[in-house]
Amino acid sequence: MVQYVGILTSGGDCPGLNAAIRAVGKACLEAYDIRIIGFQNGFRGLVQNQTLELDRKALSGILTDGGTILGTSRDKPHRMSIGGRVHDMTDAVVDTYRRHHLDALVCLGGGGTQKNALRLKKAGLSIITLPKTIDNDIAKTDVTFGFNTAVGIATEAIDRLHSTATSHDRIIVVEVMGHRAGWLALQAGTAGGADVILIPEIPYHIERVAQTIRERTRQGKHFSIVVVAEGALSLSDAEKVEELVHQKREAKDREEKEKASAKLEKFHKEHVGHTIHLTQELERLTGQESRLTILGHLQRGGTPSATDRVLATWLGTRCAQLLREGHDGFMLAVQDQELRPVPLEEVAGKKKLVSPDHPLVEAARLVGTSFGD
Ligand code: F6P
Repeated sequence: MVQYVGILTSGGDCPGLNAAIRAVGKACLEAYDIRIIGFQNGFRGLVQNQTLELDRKALSGILTDGGTILGTSRDKPHRMSIGGRVHDMTDAVVDTYRRHHLDALVCLGGGGTQKNALRLKKAGLSIITLPKTIDNDIAKTDVTFGFNTAVGIATEAIDRLHSTATSHDRIIVVEVMGHRAGWLALQAGTAGGADVILIPEIPYHIERVAQTIRERTRQGKHFSIVVVAEGALSLSDAEKVEELVHQKREAKDREEKEKASAKLEKFHKEHVGHTIHLTQELERLTGQESRLTILGHLQRGGTPSATDRVLATWLGTRCAQLLREGHDGFMLAVQDQELRPVPLEEVAGKKKLVSPDHPLVEAARLVGTSFGD
């Protein structure tokens, strides 16, 4: 019988985390007689035994708050930096789990968290994960909480940028988050009526983007809104990435694989800020004044939308129910408007990307949006 569970939030924060903590906690305490303890700052809290008691008072009044009352980090138990050196702290995590006599651990996180959770499952922990991220890129779930709020924030920003773009006859490039996936750019761009949407899954040619803008000018439309996912790639950059991924996949030994990984990482680090170059190039190619807005962490902060509060509450309470029934070892996913447990093995290390023929891409094209391809 499950009597005592731990909970943590890991990876980048997002709106809805507190709503999910509250849902798991309240359902555990009120409905299933399960006590719950929070670990702070992601997996680091488990290593260093940093805890927060989650009683009724702690869980009250947090539904609408952004961020996470538990704090978060991108720490991985098997590669944790401590005192400037990287250590495998898996044993310390298992030790804390046992010392507290936990029956299970709930991890609220994105793609990285699913991988960490699978490792800990293999180390003997009973784990359930809930999918959160503004990127909406977790495999096997139709949606993640945090995404809807971020789409709303980015859409509002695009709406506001429209009026200043029209007043000044400018091109405004809007960079949105999303990591290596284009969900956020696609949905916010579609909702905001962007003229061009650039996403990682559809490599773009800058001359085609410029052509679209010139054509708009010919039609008497003297402004353009270009929504760009932070991970969007030009055709030549996409070829570079493909080659590096190929090198990594085909590596004969560990050393070669590490080298290819390092090159790939270097590429992605240097790619940050690519929208500055894109904006300057569009100005040069079209002769039209251009400005760049990077929305950044605005998309992750603040109160969750009603949709995310509802989703987090649904996932959290169902998670408590499944804990009570003694189930573990899975991520609770949203599939066809139902919640289904998906084994961690099927989620970890996978990504859900926008397929280039996704119905929403087709819909955007049909209203005249260019993807620069
Ligand atoms: O995964 C969420 C996310 O906001 C991504 O969209 C973005 O690439 C990344 O996190 C930014 O991370 P950080 O806050 O660590 O800079």
